[in-house]
Parts: sequence; C-alpha cells; structure tokens
Amino acid sequence: MIDLKTSYMGINLKNPLILGACNISEDTESAKILEDDGIAAIVFKSLFEEQIIFEKIQLKEFRNEYADRHAEMISVFPSISHGGPKEHLYKIKKLRNAVKIPIIASLNCINKETWIDYAKQLEDTGVDGLELNFYSSHAVNDQKNINIEKMQLDVIASIISSINIPASVKMNYFFTDIKSIIIDMAKTGIKGFVFFNKVFTPEINIEKEDYFYPMPISCKCENKIPLRFTGMLSAKTKADICSSTGIFDAEDVISMILSGASCVQMVSTIYKNKLKNTDVILSDIRKWMKEHNYGSIADFKGKLSKENLKDPFFLEREQYIDILNNNETIIKKQYKI
Ligand SMILES: Cc1cc2nc3c(=O)[nH]c(=O)nc-3n(C[C@H](O)[C@H](O)[C@H](O)COP(=O)(O)O)c2cc1C
Repeated sequence: MIDLKTSYMGINLKNPLILGACNISEDTESAKILEDDGIAAIVFKSLFEEQIIFEKIQLKEFRNEYADRHAEMISVFPSISHGGPKEHLYKIKKLRNAVKIPIIASLNCINKETWIDYAKQLEDTGVDGLELNFYSSHAVNDQKNINIEKMQLDVIASIISSINIPASVKMNYFFTDIKSIIIDMAKTGIKGFVFFNKVFTPEINIEKEDYFYPMPISCKCENKIPLRFTGMLSAKTKADICSSTGIFDAEDVISMILSGASCVQMVSTIYKNKLKNTDVILSDIRKWMKEHNYGSIADFKGKLSKENLKDPFFLEREQYIDILNNNETIIKKQYKI
C-alpha cells in the first residue's frame, strides 16, 4: 500500500501536490474540480495591499468627479468608502465552505501595520496557514540590502506573534546569502519556505520597439534552480520546503522530494492541463514508488539532499567549474560541430 501523506508547516496533507497562488483559487467550481482530482491543498491568490490602495484612490477620484457634477449626492451617500480587503476575505470564506482540503492564504503588503492587520483578518477566515510574499525591487530600492532583510525579519516576527496559524515565506533567490536569511527567518517561527516565487519579467518586441509581458506560464526548465536550492538547503532548516516553479509532472515532484522538499506548488501545469492532471501525476508517483520499493514519502524524502550525497560539493561551485571544463566534447558531439 503506497502512502502519499506528507506534512507542510504542521499541516497534514494527503499528498504533496498544492495549487500555488493564482486566480483559479477564486473560482470555487474550479477548486472543487481540483479537490476531486486529488489536489492536497490550495494557496489562495495573494491579497495585495498595493491593489487596495489603488482601488481606494480610484474610488476617491470617482467620488470627487461625481461630487462636482451632483454635489447633493454626496450628502445623500456621505459614507461610501472602500471596503479594504473585505471582498478578498469574503472570497476566501466562500472557498473555505466549498472545499475540505487545507487552504493557505497569501499576503503581500507594503506597510508593517497593514501586514499585521491583514494577517489577522486572513486568519479569521478560517484558513490553515499563511504564506508571506515579500516583494522588494532591489535594483531600484534606496535601502541597503541589510535594511531590507531587517525589515522583512521584523515584519515576520510581528506577524508570527500576532497569529496562531503557521506561516511560510515565498522566497525569491535575490539574496546575497540565502542560507543565512532562511535560518534567521526560521528563528522567528516561520514553519515553511516556498522555493521560489516566479519573477515575471518583460520582453521586448523588436518590431514595435516596446516592452511587453508574455503569458505568465512557466516551462519545465525553470524548476532547476528550485531543485538545486532545495537540495542545498532542505537540511539546513527545520522549516519545511515547498518547491515551486516549473513543476509539471511526476518526475519533477519526485525530484523535489528526493532533494528534500515536503511538497510542491504547481500553477502553470494546472492551467495547461485544464485543471485535470493532478490525478495523473499522483498515479505516476505511486507507480514510481512501487517500482523503487518505497511505501511512503518519508522513505525517499531528502535522499538526495546535500547532506546525504557522497560528494557534498556536487551541488556547489566545484561542480560548476567541472561542467565548464569537461563538457566541451559532449556538446560538440551533440551539435555535430
Ligand atoms: C495567473 C497567475 C496568477 C498568479 N497569482 C499569484 C498571486 O496572487 N500570488 C503569488 O504569490 N503568486 C501568484 N502567481 C505565481 C504562482 O503562484 C507561481 O509562483 C508561479 O506561477 C510559478 O509556478 P508555476 O511554474 O507552477 O506556474 C500567479 C501565477 C499565475 C500564472
């Protein structure tokens, strides 16, 4: 009997497959299809403070414009104001009532007070966990890197002491020393890390000589950096690692678990396969486990993490130099040069 159970930041999961934060989570019918197909948990799309601020400005402008034309209407409806995150919270509660699997809320704020306030409001919807999605554009930020890290650690510590559900951080890899930052974050009480958030970057249309954003769908090759960092860092922290980005099939999921992940998040593959491939991935994982005589996820989790490798430097720089120096012949043969 193959057992796919795992746990992520203290939340029991029936298997390692989680729907990552995206718009699918807002549609309860789609969420139910995914639940029936076997998905173990859902990360609800992020609550963005910036979006609320923008909507508030829009509402104010609309009211001012209306007041100029119909001043008396403002005295009839003097108290129309933006509901803040209420619509978002309502949608999460609707999802909570529609599915039985764990739901993780996702939060992305600017101000410390809002981080804490919204985190508490998200907890009150009945979600099982909270994913913190920090965004800092290092290239344009006037702050020194150390201040950005301090600010994030301070926000995390304040959130952790204000809520009773487990929290994770959806990481990006633009840290000088990612090992130290995850160790420091884990000390604040963070129970999980998502490796990694996807950076949506623009391309240039050289005919129009203008930027454009391509469809935000990943390719399988994008899971190599998450795989490497999961392997290098999974044993460095007691917090669970949830690998993410470019995870499309059973091979990707198994690789992540071998490198030390407790679970994975998937978005692009769910879109591409029209919500209907979780069951296929699960059955392929079971097949592989049977062939390799594994009865549970714990049997092979972390088997290829850095600490368990015969050559612990395999994932490190030495290997990089080796690749550059010793693969010329293979490349030439492959491309018939
Ligand atoms: C349409 C769409 C909406 C997304 N919305 C969010 C979001 O609200 N918050 C977030 O942290 N990530 C969001 N993401 C990023 C995904 O959660 C995920 O990190 C990214 O797509 C990489 O995973 P994948 O390769 O499996 O697609 C979104 C992605 C897509 C495609």
